[in-house]
Amino acid sequence: MKNVLIIGANSAIAKATARHYAQQKDSLYLLARDPHQLEIQRGDLAVRGASAVECAAFDATDFASHGRLITKALETMGHFDIVLIAHGSLPDQALCESDFEATLQAFNINALSVISLLNHIIEPMRERRDGCIVVVTSVAGDRGRQSNFVYGAAKAMVSTYLQGLRGRLFHDNVCVIDIKPGFVDTPMTAHLSKGVLWAQPEQIAQRIAKGVEKRRATVYAPGFWRLIMFVVCSVPEVIFKRLKL
Ligand SMILES: NC(=O)c1ccc[n+]([C@@H]2O[C@H](COP(=O)([O-])OP(=O)(O)OC[C@H]3O[C@@H](n4cnc5c(N)ncnc54)[C@H](OP(=O)(O)O)[C@@H]3O)[C@@H](O)[C@H]2O)c1
Repeated sequence: MKNVLIIGANSAIAKATARHYAQQKDSLYLLARDPHQLEIQRGDLAVRGASAVECAAFDATDFASHGRLITKALETMGHFDIVLIAHGSLPDQALCESDFEATLQAFNINALSVISLLNHIIEPMRERRDGCIVVVTSVAGDRGRQSNFVYGAAKAMVSTYLQGLRGRLFHDNVCVIDIKPGFVDTPMTAHLSKGVLWAQPEQIAQRIAKGVEKRRATVYAPGFWRLIMFVVCSVPEVIFKRLKL
C-alpha cells in the first residue's frame, strides 16, 4: 500500500490517476480548490477501494498556505510514496500580451505555485530516501508557439526546474518525473475542437502510473508526443516563426 498525495486533485487527469491508485488499495490525500467536489471524489475513491482518503481545500496562488497544508498532509500520512502535482490553467494568450496581471496570474498558477509546493515537499522525501515526485507540465513547454507562449513558458520553467531537481535528488533515491501531455479532453480544453491527436484523461493516468512504476524522468502522454515534439523542435526558427501555430 502506497501513500499518495495528489495536489490539484479535482483536475480530470488527477481524478483519473486517483482512481487508479484507489483500485490498488492505496491511501490518498487530496488537495484541491473546491471542497464540495473533493467530498464527492472522496466517496467515489473509497468505493473504488482506497484504504484511506483524506482531503483539504487548497488554492495554488495562496503561497503562504502551502507549508501548513503539506505539513498537515505529512502528519496525517506519516510519509509520501508518491506526490502528484496536477493543477493548472490555460491563460488567455492575447490578454496576457497586454495585461501583466493576467500573465503574472498564469505564472503563479502554472509555475511558481508548483515551485513553492516543491520547496515544502523535497525535504521530507529526501529524509526518507525514497519516493516519486510527479508533476504534470505540458508539451507546450518544449517550444514557444505564438498561440500560447505564456502557458508554454510557465510549463517550461517547471520542466527546467524539475530537470535540476532530478539530479539533486538522485543520490537521495527520490525520482522526479515530468509528465508532458499533449491535447487532453478535460474541462480545461472544453472550448477547443477535438481531433485525432486528442487523448482521454484515463490514458494520461496510465502513463503516470507506468512512469512511477519504472521511475522514468520525462513521460510524454500519450507516448507518440515524444516524436511529434522532436519534429516540432527540429523545425528551424526561420521557418517556425512563420507558422501560425
Ligand atoms: N488538458 C490538456 O490538454 C492538457 C495538456 C497538457 C497539460 N495539461 C496540464 O494537465 C494538468 C491538469 O489539467 P486538466 O487537463 O486535467 O484540466 P482540468 O480538469 O481543468 O484541471 C485543472 C485543475 O486545476 C485547478 N486549478 C486551477 N487554478 C487553481 C488554483 N488557483 N488553485 C487550485 N487549483 C487550481 C482547477 O481547479 P477547479 O477544479 O477548482 O477549477 C482544476 O481542477 C494541468 O497542469 C494542465 O496544465 C493539460
